[in-house]
Amino acid sequence: MSRILDAHREEEDVRSETSLRPRTLKEYIGQSELKKNLRIFIGAARKREEPLDHVLLYGPPGLGKTTLAYVIANEMGGNVKTLSGPSVEKPGDLAAVLSELEEGDILFIDEIHRLSRAVEEILYGAMEDFKLTIMINREGGAKTLTLPLPPFTLVGATTRAGDLAAPLRDRFGISAKLNFYSPEEIAQIIERTSKVLEMPIEEEAIKTLSSRSRGTPRIANRIYKRVRDFASFYGKDTIDNETAKLALQALKIDELGLDDVDIRYLTTIIERYHGGPVGLESIASAIGEEITNLEDVYEPYLIMSGLIDRTPRGRMATPKAYAHLHHPFQGTLF
Ligand code: ADE
Repeated sequence: MSRILDAHREEEDVRSETSLRPRTLKEYIGQSELKKNLRIFIGAARKREEPLDHVLLYGPPGLGKTTLAYVIANEMGGNVKTLSGPSVEKPGDLAAVLSELEEGDILFIDEIHRLSRAVEEILYGAMEDFKLTIMINREGGAKTLTLPLPPFTLVGATTRAGDLAAPLRDRFGISAKLNFYSPEEIAQIIERTSKVLEMPIEEEAIKTLSSRSRGTPRIANRIYKRVRDFASFYGKDTIDNETAKLALQALKIDELGLDDVDIRYLTTIIERYHGGPVGLESIASAIGEEITNLEDVYEPYLIMSGLIDRTPRGRMATPKAYAHLHHPFQGTLF
């Protein structure tokens, strides 16, 4: 079974996210500053009858980058073509998709930091001048061929904006970070999901779920569905708080929404490294997780919740982490 708290997208999420996905900025909950700006940029582009400038969305997984790309397309009245960085193997693969774009289309590239350099270079001309330049290797030497492209908008999504090559990053006119959602925003998302999936949920149960969803809509929706399973199994037609708590206990999701990887991460710092500071490499090897996974998926939430500090000398567990794990605080605050 996949980890319920891992914000990475699973097959089941792909199916349900399509039905749960808001289609307009008005329906999209949270990220209010970003929405306010996007409304202006989209409105102005539409007035000028031009495509929206290229948009880079970055932030931890599960916060709605793909959803927002589809909302943008819908608001602009264009179609979406979707690619994922690791799946574009050759420049020709990207060239094929680019050459089929129509005016006003949105090209969404997820995990854009994982494009190879050769593929990335094709994007430069496409983004800047709407031109596709391809190399043709023929006997007697290579030739380049340049084709015009219809005006389109590239929406790139990444968990690591810092890994993007500068020339690529510079070609995005709009660049925005998605933040974790507040418990109130997550509660609104759960309410909406319960209407779409037609299983009502009590107010108290919404609070229980939203406080354990790590500020992440994808996790909130996934937990809602598992809790709904418990309610259906026990013959209920509403999710009450008792069932919600029972289900969360069975799913081993604690009061802060931490899973076993988070707990092992914190325990390692506290028990093996006296609370830190300790380098991320040491933590990763002690708990057998990849450095990038810890950095992109786990740490952002641990930092946001005030459980760890990232210092120049390494990671440190905070007094809140000690309290959460019921360990007497033994570190130093400075
Ligand atoms: N489902 C997932 N993310 C959402 C969001 N930000 N607003 C509404 N529904 C969502």
